[in-house]
Amino acid sequence: MEASSLRVGMITESLNASLPYNPGRRRASRVVLYSGGWSLLVRIGVRKTALNEVSADLLAVGLYKDEAPPEGLGTAAEPALTGGDFSGKSGQTALLYPGRALAAPRLLLVGLGERSSFTAEKLRRTAATVAKRARSLGANEAAFSLPDLEGVSAEGSARAAAEGAALGLYRFTRYKTGGRADPAEANAEEDRELEGFDLVIGGSGDQEAASAGAGAGAKVAAGSLLARDLANEPSNTATPEYLAERAREIAGRYGMEATVLDRAGIEEEGLTGLATVGRSALNEPRFIVLEHRKGGDAAPIVIVGKAVTFDSGGISIKPSSGMEDMKFDMSGGAAVLGAMEAVGALDLGLNVVALVPATENLPGGDAFKPGDVLTMHSGKTVEILTTDAEGRLILADALSYARRYEPAAVVDCATLTGACVVALGNHASGLMGNDEDLIAEVRAAGEATGERAWPLPLFREYTEQIKGDTADIKNSGGRGGGALTAGAFLKEFADYPWAHLDIAGTAYGKKGNAYTPKGATGVPARLLVEFLLGRAS
Ligand code: BES
Ligand code: MN
Ligand code: ZN
Repeated sequence: MEASSLRVGMITESLNASLPYNPGRRRASRVVLYSGGWSLLVRIGVRKTALNEVSADLLAVGLYKDEAPPEGLGTAAEPALTGGDFSGKSGQTALLYPGRALAAPRLLLVGLGERSSFTAEKLRRTAATVAKRARSLGANEAAFSLPDLEGVSAEGSARAAAEGAALGLYRFTRYKTGGRADPAEANAEEDRELEGFDLVIGGSGDQEAASAGAGAGAKVAAGSLLARDLANEPSNTATPEYLAERAREIAGRYGMEATVLDRAGIEEEGLTGLATVGRSALNEPRFIVLEHRKGGDAAPIVIVGKAVTFDSGGISIKPSSGMEDMKFDMSGGAAVLGAMEAVGALDLGLNVVALVPATENLPGGDAFKPGDVLTMHSGKTVEILTTDAEGRLILADALSYARRYEPAAVVDCATLTGACVVALGNHASGLMGNDEDLIAEVRAAGEATGERAWPLPLFREYTEQIKGDTADIKNSGGRGGGALTAGAFLKEFADYPWAHLDIAGTAYGKKGNAYTPKGATGVPARLLVEFLLGRAS
């Protein structure tokens, strides 16, 4: 459980690469995901095999509502269909033991609902449900017949299915003693991992495309899972320096450049907001910069993530009830690092810069206080009304630091306001910015990934609301429109196309869904990668 042993990475094996094409054999690349350095999640591959010949501990086949099962299944699905128990309704499942009709001993039918309303998001959820069910049945190898998705290429659907399976299998268990701290030692039944998850494509399927999609899906998922791991990690482990170390590892894996400013460097650079919030913390602040340079002379895209490793509120201290969740206040930084993991693994032909201001927000004899006035990195002055509005202070400095890159676009993400949770609940991130095209682009990336973001206004009146009495601006606009005055505050520091995601309601949760357990969701790592993929093409 040593901090230094935590590692997230991937190994891409080319299996049978030198062998001639052999239908029924697993071919092409399989991606092995590791999370936490010790927890092997799953090996994901693509097989081109007739369904009755698939050898796996469980074969899952999706059926559209009131449609016949895919050929190759023979009559194996009949027992569930004839009784009318299974119609292919969305969410329906039936587990069958097909005997000699199939090579696989178990057949899991999963309802896909109406063909016309099936989406990539539903496919991710279905694949996750299949993978988790296979694991809980004690299967080592699961195979999932890749459903065809109207209007989506084989590559796209394979990507969605691989992503869903990998995301769905995620569990954060590193602090459970006697459990699966090491996959080699996992013994308890519920600790078992699924070893392999293969997508099965039919005779006319494009194996190259599906393999590429599965590989991409696994890499995107690995980025999201790194974000979850970092965010789930408690603040006594996930300190600013810990995040810096994880960033250096990403840089090392993919040939990126990592620059980490320590307290002295932060002060020297004039990052007053970050230096001030971090002043009373014994775990020193860090300003983390990762540069991925694969885009020639093109203007870079900068992604910025708030990483308050614990937000007590500082002198304006928060109520103690629920304060434990404030370990998640670094989820924006976690998502940015997770996105960079995927950017590196996908080897995107782009210039991408990640900025992660990281600090604790704690009270102390040296802490900043309400009424204090800061001269920020940009030169603007800020009056502190509450030390609990700390995120915008560290982000403002990162946004003005970003100017030196003359960026094509900047997207920041932050667990910034409780008000955003009041506005949108846990089902969408708040989306603001100064450029309608960029906002539309980010919103589309959210739709495509299921990491939904919803636009909120930054009217001039919200800027009026944060006009300062003593200084240029104040760090709180009062109760009304709290997410918007926070956005208006950040806008003061962004003089390039900029979008802001308030992820306070989406970065972690108490409920989870098909592919997200409770705790950190990894949001918006996949959204960011999708946005960058769009810029790369
Ligand atoms: N980290 C919090 C925002 C937050 C609240 C995230 C709830 C997740 C769940 C942020 O630093 C904060 O404290 N914001 C204050 C701002 C206010 C004092 C102007 C808030 O939202 O109450
Ligand atoms: Mn706060
Ligand atoms: Zn905070």
